[in-house]
Amino acid sequence: MCPADTPLNPKNLSLLWASPDRAEEIAALHAQLFDPAWDASSITESIEHPASASFIAQVRDPRSLAGFIIGRIAADEAEILSIGVAPEWQRRGVGRQMVEGLVRAARRAEVKRLFLEVATDNTAAVALYKSLGFKKAGTRNGYYQRAGSEKADAVILALGL
Ligand SMILES: CC(C)(COP(=O)(O)OP(=O)(O)OC[C@H]1O[C@@H](n2cnc3c(N)ncnc32)[C@H](O)[C@@H]1OP(=O)(O)O)[C@@H](O)C(=O)NCCC(=O)NCCS
Repeated sequence: MCPADTPLNPKNLSLLWASPDRAEEIAALHAQLFDPAWDASSITESIEHPASASFIAQVRDPRSLAGFIIGRIAADEAEILSIGVAPEWQRRGVGRQMVEGLVRAARRAEVKRLFLEVATDNTAAVALYKSLGFKKAGTRNGYYQRAGSEKADAVILALGL
């Protein structure tokens, strides 16, 4: 772990294909960031799906999981199903690097558009996607059911590749 104001050294971060043997770790981070969270078997199912394009961001020294991105490619479209960065690694470019990694994989697969849904009030995620050039492609009212609270609206964002 390093203090939140320490700049991230790119040499200390690897973007790796997500593999099922990291599902427990990914699920633990997912549970820190989302409610309701995905359990390890849902994560395994997602990353073992034939259309999966999922990565982890791994800090080399000391070895730890900084983030994950779970995506899927189907024909000429791709979707980000979930993305998260460990709180101590947020705001240091990890989320951006993971989306850019998925974009590279999608381009190689001749994908034309990358989609995602994000809660309208998730300012950090909306800012990340907007900074990468995603544009609003629609809305879904009441899309997210949050634990113990009301439904939240989602915006659909798309990036032309
Ligand atoms: C959204 C999330 C993945 C962003 O990851 P991150 O590694 O912190 O983001 P980055 O450091 O790559 O940020 C890239 C850009 O996004 C924007 N951004 C990211 N976090 C932000 C925040 N908290 N407030 C405002 N802008 C933010 C900025 O433009 C930032 O560029 P800058 O730091 O040069 O200004 C992370 O906050 C997270 O895991 N949140 C909880 C889970 C979640 O909401 N996932 C998204 C579901 S769709």
